[in-house]
Amino acid sequence: MFADFKAQPADKILELMQLFRDDPRQGKIDLGVGVYRNAEGVTPVMRAVKSAEQRLWSEQETKAYTGLLGDPAYATAMCGLVLGDAVSQDSIAAAATPGGTGAVRQGFEMVRYGNPDVRVFVSDPTWPNHISILNYLGIETVTYRYFDANTGGVDFPGMLADLEQARPGDVILLHGCCHNPTGANLTLPQWHEVIEVMRKTGALPMIDLAYQGFGDGLDEDAAPTRAVAAALPECLIAASCSKNFGIYRERAGLLITVSQDASNTPLARDTLAFLNRQNYSFPPDHGARVVTMILDDPALRDDWQAELEATRLSMLDLRHQLAAELQKLSGSDRFAFLGQHRGMFSRLGATPDQVKALREKHGVYMVGDSRMNIAGLNAKTVPLLAKAIIDTGI
Ligand code: LMR
Repeated sequence: MFADFKAQPADKILELMQLFRDDPRQGKIDLGVGVYRNAEGVTPVMRAVKSAEQRLWSEQETKAYTGLLGDPAYATAMCGLVLGDAVSQDSIAAAATPGGTGAVRQGFEMVRYGNPDVRVFVSDPTWPNHISILNYLGIETVTYRYFDANTGGVDFPGMLADLEQARPGDVILLHGCCHNPTGANLTLPQWHEVIEVMRKTGALPMIDLAYQGFGDGLDEDAAPTRAVAAALPECLIAASCSKNFGIYRERAGLLITVSQDASNTPLARDTLAFLNRQNYSFPPDHGARVVTMILDDPALRDDWQAELEATRLSMLDLRHQLAAELQKLSGSDRFAFLGQHRGMFSRLGATPDQVKALREKHGVYMVGDSRMNIAGLNAKTVPLLAKAIIDTGI
């Protein structure tokens, strides 16, 4: 049997991680995988996470199973962080999942379970693993226009026109903030227009919220998700704690369903539990418990928020440094979009050959579509990158 497996194409992001590791050059710059790095190039364990883990280590008395949906306190704390008081408690059901990808996967499973013919609308471009998982599950995808390569912003009229083609029962996958891979985001008024289109078509929104707190702030980044949840009859939200708590390898995510008709909530909750049971039974608990301890303890929460805010501001500062450096070297404003983008990523707008040249000649690693992880930079490497970009003719 094993000999008959079809070899799968390598995941471009993970493949790049390996290429970078294998490159012996000093001074190489990793702008690949979406992991935050500080000025020293380290992905730190956040202070509040360390404190919570120390407390957990000394206080935890059992590692017996929690529930199929995970610890209810985790769902309560995370739903508060994501949804605030935008919807009533009885409209929400939630399941802990292994990371944000686990939540995305369970969300896709859920919509296919509810409608085997479901079509999922995805932005062009989107995180490549969205498409990969949808293909694997045999779910039809429809792309909607999103990125405008000429402006580095969103092709909003194109996006609206494509979303208007949705039918009742279709699912619209949206990035809640910090669009991956482009860094280009909708304004809140534009979100309201998208909401109106979804209301008109009867399509079901599913929001991937993987970078809350990395864009404009915790509440600002959640505002579109809250607006969708409050306005439409139903929605799904896949939330991740990987980035904003820096607990990537602990795999803490949450899949949330919101139904304005609260009589649907028990069935949604049972379905979430059933799907967890089928795929991995009980979700991982360590990261989720650490998150709960932080969110429920005012001192830890304050400290976590302060460190997250410093992280956000450092990325924003790097963006502005890079945009300024490129403005200086190019004598034009054509890279100004980098300062307007939000989150970890920006799509530079380089061709695959230029991306290859950046890697081979300058040791700069970015994903083939020219997605850069801004957090891979520091004050010393910004001018080097800017020079490499101009030298490459971008
Ligand atoms: C990314 O987009 O780089 C991250 O979400 C990591 C991943 O799993 O691809």
